Amino acid sequence: MKNIVKVLKGTGFSSISAHEVEVLENYLYCIDDQGMIAKRLAPSDALYQSALQEAKKEDKLTELAEGQYLLPGFIDLHIHAPQWAQSGTALDIPLYQWLNTYTFPLEAKFEDTAFAEKVYAHLVDTLLANGTTTGLYFATVHEEASYKLAEICAQKGQRGLVGKVVMDDSEQNSDYYRDKDTQTALADTERFIQRVKALQAETFQGVYPVVTPRFVPSCTDSALAGLGKLAETYDVHVTSHCSESDWEHGYVKERFGKNDAQVLKDFGLLRDKSVMAHCNFLSESDVVTFKETGTAIAHCPISNAYFANSVIPIKQFHELGVEVGLGTDLSGGYDPSVYSAIRQAVISSRMLEDGVDTKKDPKERGTNHSRITVNEAFYYATAGGGESVSLPIGRLAEHYAFDAQVIDTTVSQASMPIFDKTEPLEDIFQKLLYLTKRENIVSVWVQGKQINE
Ligand code: GUN
Ligand code: FE
Repeated sequence: MKNIVKVLKGTGFSSISAHEVEVLENYLYCIDDQGMIAKRLAPSDALYQSALQEAKKEDKLTELAEGQYLLPGFIDLHIHAPQWAQSGTALDIPLYQWLNTYTFPLEAKFEDTAFAEKVYAHLVDTLLANGTTTGLYFATVHEEASYKLAEICAQKGQRGLVGKVVMDDSEQNSDYYRDKDTQTALADTERFIQRVKALQAETFQGVYPVVTPRFVPSCTDSALAGLGKLAETYDVHVTSHCSESDWEHGYVKERFGKNDAQVLKDFGLLRDKSVMAHCNFLSESDVVTFKETGTAIAHCPISNAYFANSVIPIKQFHELGVEVGLGTDLSGGYDPSVYSAIRQAVISSRMLEDGVDTKKDPKERGTNHSRITVNEAFYYATAGGGESVSLPIGRLAEHYAFDAQVIDTTVSQASMPIFDKTEPLEDIFQKLLYLTKRENIVSVWVQGKQINE
């Protein structure tokens, strides 16, 4: 076969739809010189044996060992890179106070690019080691440190979508941490977009600039309008927070007399490449707006438990046609692992379906048709995330980038309870999602290249 530089043989799992996962037993993945899966062959395919022999002969074959399985690399749609420095702490107060007490003072320190480099390098290494091959990042208001994050993703081989955060409203933000003024915020953002686009041209796995108003409360109307124009001019991704908590949702309603989704749309910020975090309080018409504009939800179930005052009806929103991916929301979510987000997405949805107030009758306690399966959560973490950012990623399928993680269920520090050689692969898949630890992730591939070789 032409242009095939690597062939991987092993058993893997990949979403066909939100409900259906394909079990790919002993498949061959033929990876071309662009890092794409040019051909995927099942043992029953006519070409399988000849492709296998050829790969062996040409020394291009990597074979998974017994007890090892392949999953698509995870896509984390919502990461606050600077907040990695406070992950696991400071989750004791509501969102508004948390931002002002802990988070903005921490983010202000990223004016120091050397400090930023130290934190960001550690973060990107950690995420890759946890199987996250694509990250959508909020950096800080500082252009230089934000660019440094894009460079670190590029160097370390992760697919990074990086935003310089905009917070220009001098009435809403403290002087110690904000853009100098609206004009500067927009000029810095535009230069940042141009610089990251130049970096993108020389980055094999891709690195992308993202227009990033932190959230409506931190931006002036003119900044929001200017950012909408930049998104259109440069055709780049957009991210922000939307209808996250009672406070945030209420603030936007009071200022504009309409919901967050409508405000963002009116400023040109809801586009096919837009990803909005949280979105717990979307109304029925907001959901239609998301669907019509192609805007995706970054579902952040761990952080929602701390800050969102609610559980999002994510299954219903997805079934109404909105694209959904998962986010860790470091550090509103404390855990860098998308596996943890998968687990919490399932758990929270069960609590929404059953309800939590034992004083209520079971019939009135919960919200019907809310629970999601592990298959659905896996879909959000992979294929759904890929659709959300409009990139060919998140599936072990032809014409997708070969972004993958190899899980070894037998590593001695974290061996999994698999005792029966005939255990159905569907059950093993569920064990992988619930039990995988960082130690089990023995190799990670982005765009056909092994990261930790
Ligand atoms: N809303 C505005 N900024 C943030 C943030 O950093 N984290 C979360 N969870 N919500 C936000
Ligand atoms: Fe966030």
